[in-house]
Amino acid sequence: MKSYIIEGGRRLHGEVNISGSKNASLPIIAATILNADTTKLYNIPKIQDTKITLEILRILGCKIRRNSGKIEINSKNITKTEIPEDLMRQMRSTVVLAGAILGRFKEVTFTYPGGCEIGARPIDLHLEAFKKMGIQVEEKAGFIRCSCDKIMAADINLDFPSVGATENIILAATLADGTTVINNAAMEPEIIDLANCLNRMGAKIQGAGTNIVKITGVKKLKGTGYKVMPDRIEAGTFLCAAAVTGGKVKIKNVIPEHIIPVIHKLQEAGCKIDIQKNVIEIEAPKKLKAVDIKTMPYPGFPTDLQQIFGSMLTVAKGTSIIVENIFENRFKYISELKRMGAKAVIEGKTVVITGKRKLIGATVKGSDLRGGTGLIIAALAAKGKTTVENIEYVLRGYEALDEKINLLGGNIKEVGG
Ligand code: UD1
Repeated sequence: MKSYIIEGGRRLHGEVNISGSKNASLPIIAATILNADTTKLYNIPKIQDTKITLEILRILGCKIRRNSGKIEINSKNITKTEIPEDLMRQMRSTVVLAGAILGRFKEVTFTYPGGCEIGARPIDLHLEAFKKMGIQVEEKAGFIRCSCDKIMAADINLDFPSVGATENIILAATLADGTTVINNAAMEPEIIDLANCLNRMGAKIQGAGTNIVKITGVKKLKGTGYKVMPDRIEAGTFLCAAAVTGGKVKIKNVIPEHIIPVIHKLQEAGCKIDIQKNVIEIEAPKKLKAVDIKTMPYPGFPTDLQQIFGSMLTVAKGTSIIVENIFENRFKYISELKRMGAKAVIEGKTVVITGKRKLIGATVKGSDLRGGTGLIIAALAAKGKTTVENIEYVLRGYEALDEKINLLGGNIKEVGG
């Protein structure tokens, strides 16, 4: 088990570059399966999640070359349509590989995906949509097999604007006959990035980023290059890291429009924020003020920053109320924060945080990607040494997090193996 040891109480200052988006990279890597030609991808973060996804593609038969910032994927000779069970179980987003494999080969076999334990995370919306597209879905002994002679365009209404289901439908519909319409589609920027990449390959996708997405099937795609968008959650993480330490940090290579609710809440907490084209500069006040947040689908406050923001609010003045509306199990970090002296009470999908003057370093354990990151945020502000155990989840989602924090004047070290 790997851990981070963090000496807290250091004010972060300087500049940090944001890496490519994890959540955009994963469906975009999946999209290359639809393209029998070569796709060159830029700005894919070097993290465990992209490594696993690329490994699955390699097993399916894709040829992959990585040099410095570029990954070349040639999917011409894919020979398998079954996603290996052990890799599938390692992360949730492997489920979008199903839509891409189906789209190209009209069949796929996979198991229920794994990933962070932040809620039930069913895939019923994905499977219902596949059925509407004329795909037969059979579940047997833990395996799901989807197949059809041809994928039919459909009018799909999502009960909830699921990010993964929207991506899976787009991928499955790209090479289908006719126009598929997704009503109540997720509007996250990562959906726009996926659609932009596919359109660059020759797909016909309209409306990505709105709640109605139309995909008109094309016969085939062509080779292209695409640069993945910056990671808005990593940007939000560094804003909170600066804020919690009373710091002043310039966040570079970010698209500020992607994190507007986060910027507003930081301003409400007393931070000064200066926004330029691809740069956000944050200057924290001496003492943060309490704020309330409610997570919502985009463009609301992102659930992926709830734990990180919540950890920051443990040192704010006053009482903050956080409502988690997306995932039912995203408060596990609270009991760990209490070991550091935080005061918080959970009531259903709400947590009430009473800000403290100081947190004290302790040994705590991360139980999911963003929850583990929240503990790191708290540790940066805490007095003395904190050991955050079980950081494997964190390493899955952030590129060089420790290096970047140290460059800003923090003190964090990875130990164990
Ligand atoms: C994606 C992101 C994740 C983010 C989430 C919400 C990736 C790799 N992950 O996850 O970081 O937190 O969006 O912004 O991009 N649901 C169902 N049935 C389904 C699908 C989803 O009930 O078939 C529920 C989920 O349990 C959850 C909610 O819908 O409560 C949102 O899930 P969804 O938007 O699908 O999130 P993911 O795509 O898993």
